[in-house]
Amino acid sequence: MEENWKTCALTDYAALKGKRVLIRVDWNMPVNEKGEISDTSRADVTFDFLKKLSFAGAKMVLMTHFGDKGESVSPIATYIKQHLPFITFTPSLDLEELEKVTRELKEGDGMLLENVRLWKGEEDNLPSLARGFATLGDVYVNNAFSVSHREHASVAGVPNYTLSYFGPLLMRELEHLTSALSPEKPALLIIGGAKIKTKLNLIQNYLDKGVTVFVGGAMVHDIWKAKGIEIGQSLFDGTTPLSERFLNHPLLMTPIDVTLENGNTVLSTAIPKDGKVMDCGPQTATLLQQKIDESKTIIANGPLGLYEKGWLKGTEEVLGSMAHTKGQTYIGGGDTVAVAHSLKLLQEFTFVSLGGGAMLDFLASGTLPGIHAVTESKRAGYR
Ligand code: 3PG
Repeated sequence: MEENWKTCALTDYAALKGKRVLIRVDWNMPVNEKGEISDTSRADVTFDFLKKLSFAGAKMVLMTHFGDKGESVSPIATYIKQHLPFITFTPSLDLEELEKVTRELKEGDGMLLENVRLWKGEEDNLPSLARGFATLGDVYVNNAFSVSHREHASVAGVPNYTLSYFGPLLMRELEHLTSALSPEKPALLIIGGAKIKTKLNLIQNYLDKGVTVFVGGAMVHDIWKAKGIEIGQSLFDGTTPLSERFLNHPLLMTPIDVTLENGNTVLSTAIPKDGKVMDCGPQTATLLQQKIDESKTIIANGPLGLYEKGWLKGTEEVLGSMAHTKGQTYIGGGDTVAVAHSLKLLQEFTFVSLGGGAMLDFLASGTLPGIHAVTESKRAGYR
């Protein structure tokens, strides 16, 4: 399903003078042992927009999630304050009290709320919480594509109760990923990582669109196992039934050779019983380079080797080929983007998505809960 999202862009910043603008950002960033943020890019890309809103005299109320153990956003607040001194952290979880604070904000100033996942009902999209969040702004802006696949109150709930827009980062994602949804052909989707279950719809949709899909990472072991090919001791999921139609699709590609844990490279039809596949092999990288150069659109998400253990070669080679090809190139997913970043290739792609799971879900269905909610808020007459 494709949404009528183009009319939902926030464009008239001047009209926000004196208004409370409730903004969902994704400042969920990694923190090192010293408690410092080790990769600040998710915050950095939002600064320009927030400076513009401040200049326009808007009163900003910022919401983000952070970590997965109920951590306070305090380290984020410290970082933000260094760069945007007009934004202060307000740690209260009392929505009535917060509403009063939002009304006392000066034009051009902003406040960061505590981790939204500390509120009961955020992850269940509790209507009373979404309504409560909505009281903190006169308008709502979703500028957090990477969390828009979550049906959470601060993402998919708030637009039911207030005038809602998309911020510039979200618009950018929609503009580019909509092109990737209907790729110019010949097209190639390169998909890696584990958990075939979460990616099966996407793979099947692209195969049905006539796109060649290369599957790498641990997911491919499920495919081989289902086809009766020996995978040795390699990781696999095993919980997802794979149809004959899927397994035998002529556009489905898998590695022709693999690198094992002991460093040996073997054909993928000759994995020994005691072998453990860690990455795709050099012949596969060469074949992919050729495929990439023949394609007008190439989309990649997910590592092709066991990223956590440093098996990056296959992913590095593919990203290198993509960076130097003529076609339109789209990449996404935290690990993939991190590899591209370490190779200093980020500027070489047509588009680098800020989303991982959100990019995959968007490409699979053409929408996301957080996108649907904003477009519906318009249809329901909130503006
Ligand atoms: C991400 O890091 O992918 C986004 O911030 C979404 O986080 P989540 O998987 O905890 O919802």
